[in-house]
Amino acid sequence: MRKVQFTETVLRDANQSLIATRLPYSKFEPILETMDKAGFYSAEVWGGATFDVCLRYLREDPWDRLRKIRAKMPNTKLQMLLRGQNILGYKHYPDDVVRKFVEYSVKNGIDIIRIFDALNDVRNLEVAVDETVKQGAHASGTISYTTSPVHTLDKYVQMVKEMKEMGVSSFCIKDMAGIMGPKEAYDLVSAIKDAVPELPLVVHTHSTTGLAFMTYLKAVEAGADVIDTAISPFSGGTSQPATETLAYALRQLGYQVDLDDKVLVQMADFFKGVRADFLKDGTLDPISMATDTQCLNYQIPGGMLSNLISQLKMMNAMDKLDEALAETPKVRADLGYPPLVTPTSQMVGSQAVQNVLAGERYKVVGKEIKAYCRGEYGRTPAPIDPDIQKKILGDTPLVEGRFADSLEPEFEKTKKELGATAKSDEDVLSYIAFPQVAMAFFKDREAGFPVKEETKKVETKKTAPVETAPIPAWQGHVYYAEVPSPVVPGYTTRPIPPFAASYQPPHLKMGRGEDCTGNFTITIDGKPFQVSVVRADAPDAAAPVAAAAPVVAPVAAPAAPAPAAAPAPAPAAAPAPAAAPAAVAAGETAVNSPMPGNIFKVECQVGQSVKAGDVLVVLEAMKMEIEVSAPVDGTVKAVAATVGTAVNTDDLLVTIG
Ligand code: CO
Repeated sequence: MRKVQFTETVLRDANQSLIATRLPYSKFEPILETMDKAGFYSAEVWGGATFDVCLRYLREDPWDRLRKIRAKMPNTKLQMLLRGQNILGYKHYPDDVVRKFVEYSVKNGIDIIRIFDALNDVRNLEVAVDETVKQGAHASGTISYTTSPVHTLDKYVQMVKEMKEMGVSSFCIKDMAGIMGPKEAYDLVSAIKDAVPELPLVVHTHSTTGLAFMTYLKAVEAGADVIDTAISPFSGGTSQPATETLAYALRQLGYQVDLDDKVLVQMADFFKGVRADFLKDGTLDPISMATDTQCLNYQIPGGMLSNLISQLKMMNAMDKLDEALAETPKVRADLGYPPLVTPTSQMVGSQAVQNVLAGERYKVVGKEIKAYCRGEYGRTPAPIDPDIQKKILGDTPLVEGRFADSLEPEFEKTKKELGATAKSDEDVLSYIAFPQVAMAFFKDREAGFPVKEETKKVETKKTAPVETAPIPAWQGHVYYAEVPSPVVPGYTTRPIPPFAASYQPPHLKMGRGEDCTGNFTITIDGKPFQVSVVRADAPDAAAPVAAAAPVVAPVAAPAAPAPAAAPAPAPAAAPAPAAAPAAVAAGETAVNSPMPGNIFKVECQVGQSVKAGDVLVVLEAMKMEIEVSAPVDGTVKAVAATVGTAVNTDDLLVTIG
């Protein structure tokens, strides 16, 4: 009887895919000792986004989390996900940092490190694999699975052979998007097992497209030794298929499954409660739990899809989801078919969103995409479209060879710089991986974690306009501006002042293609407002229903010098004039935020002369750094951007005169 083993993902991948990794340690601690008795091949508990989210949102030291899990689960192999030379971040780190990270991961309790490279460039796996072996841990050499005209069985088999040479103890096929069908799994597993039968083979997929159960079954039939699953309440959708279901089915089919069913029942009961809490507070979006066959066309990995949805929600642009999804494979082809896994999934997804929102492809390009096009991430599976590469890079030279070879050692230097701020080598590594986030965490820790109101920026931003906009005394009148609808081509929306240009009342959200014309009464804080939606070419479109001055800037004209959102008038200061935002003076150019995000850096000062193309502000958006450049030559007249603050699309950043 052939044995099939299970890796349980509830604490890492399921957590990451369904609830954006927001599961705090305190919430799952009570189940760890039970989980330890289930008989898993391994429990994936660390790495991926857990590290960043611990520091950024949960105010947990990720290393401390790992040690605590280790103490509670002495009998289960603990597994982490490592992005080769990128460790847990989105850029390449020098070799000394990769080695230290692996060393301390093992020292703090990790047994198995699943090591992959977003581009399947094996040169980016070497150092991490070598150090894992040196530390006496298990390196699992991983294929980032994808399909494209350039990803063939032969290429994958070749990669597996190279990883074996490096000294890995097992292989993993990581299908992060849930796009691997049963036949593809059967063929690929068979090919790998034929070529290198002596090493265990793990298969990892997601339920996103609904293929996963069949895929696992065929993978097992072809010889896969281990499959990744999630306990049922955290299974399905963008997560893995259910542990209990596969255990049941595989036993029926005559495979040996050494899992303790009673323990699985206890785990499921426990996580049902956890799931209910996250459903209630909105962190778990039912969309993530549905079967979505679009992924078969768009190849959107679980984490990327939930990220895309949450970003679009934040900017009130969920209606753009279809467009962003359709743009994604085009961007991918342009960039030489990178597999969609972090960080390339974020890069491709974010670029697709920017292409859609900016109305021009590659007009706004993140720093990471530029680095990718230079070759800083490694060899792309196919060449990048030369025209697009030219548009993105200009005359910037390309990287030759392995990028990490050009990086200076960083660990000791950073340790010295941090001095007493870092309490341990682990702190130094946290800082190297996420400098700003780790520093904020260290300060918080020093202060004993004072209670903060705002822990989730996304939610706060989403509701802020409705909660804070004072209701003016002009209730009952309708003032409006002619605003081309950003949502429905050919339609005009007429928002009510004094809401900022970037604020579209949620009631006006429309799907593309729907007929949304008519008069609507919307209610904000219990008070009714009237809004008309008409076709732009309709006869009455040009005739304002009231004579007051329009006070809302064009929403769909980010390039135009749109005024900043002015503070809303006090209730007593009625109609229009007071509500009018300060316009940019004639001859001045407003540089507005191309997308919602946080101000990461301000790289200009009042009085400074700038040339078109000079970087003025760096935004952090969708986990990417986005450079906002001067559109014209001139002098900086005003800087509205402040480091660390959140901005929305079209918010004023800098004025140039
Ligand atoms: Co995954």
